[in-house]
Amino acid sequence: MGATVTDLLKDDETAQVVCGVDITPCVGGKIPVYRTFDCVKEKVDVILDFSSPAALNVELNWAVKKGVTVVLAATGYTQEDLKFIENCAKKVAIFKTANFSIGVNLLVKLVREAAETLGEKFDIEIIEKHHNQKVDAPSGTALMLAYSANAAFDDSKEYLNGRCGKIGKRGNEIGIHAVRGGTIVGEHDVIFAGDDEVITLSHSASSKRVFAAGAIKAAKWLAGKPAGKYDMKDII
Ligand SMILES: NC(=O)c1ccc[n+]([C@@H]2O[C@H](COP(=O)([O-])OP(=O)(O)OC[C@H]3O[C@@H](n4cnc5c(N)ncnc54)[C@H](O)[C@@H]3O)[C@@H](O)[C@H]2O)c1
Repeated sequence: MGATVTDLLKDDETAQVVCGVDITPCVGGKIPVYRTFDCVKEKVDVILDFSSPAALNVELNWAVKKGVTVVLAATGYTQEDLKFIENCAKKVAIFKTANFSIGVNLLVKLVREAAETLGEKFDIEIIEKHHNQKVDAPSGTALMLAYSANAAFDDSKEYLNGRCGKIGKRGNEIGIHAVRGGTIVGEHDVIFAGDDEVITLSHSASSKRVFAAGAIKAAKWLAGKPAGKYDMKDII
């Protein structure tokens, strides 16, 4: 994602990538890539983070110290991470979303509407598919979709990740299933299965550029904003 963002911004007149930070050494690129934030010498307005929750602590401490706004695009944060993000957002502007595509964010709304309309009689199952390098499961987007559906039932449903063995009858749950393979960029199906009918709402991304473009839009929008926590709803 970092490379895709850099590529999309190469001819942009209003924003530029001044440097990168990555624990894996990167050589041969056109911008400096440092191993840690403490090595960054450039003036930075916004950090755009497509790395890993493992980067969070060092990154946000640096951002707070320097007064730099942050767009968090990685997925897989723990509850503890989310609390830390809330605290740091009292000091600098932080934008966070698990998915920058407008289409996915529309899907999140449609899923809520479908769940409200169809009600308890329809079982909800989510299938997400991603490339074989993805490190977290289920995807952050699958969780966004599950939370959106569950909001229609006052969050009363359990989340069940995959099924195996003698599991008995289906309970009051939302099933979430992760498929990993090849170079699949990101596919999400939300299935509402009722008596004698099934409705499936789907989104498919065919390129990482859709996420990079959304993240750049968010970074430009966030620059100069006061401390606080922002997400896609603020932009849309
Ligand atoms: N919000 C969105 O729309 C969206 C879209 C695509 C991917 N993502 C998320 O963005 C993240 C990156 O995705 P990707 O496909 O580019 O993965 P990737 O594995 O190709 O790239 C991640 C990079 O982060 C680096 N990294 C890992 N841990 C680090 C640390 N502690 N400090 C500094 N650098 C570190 C890795 O060396 C690697 O170069 C994932 O969490 C993914 O789920 C979010």
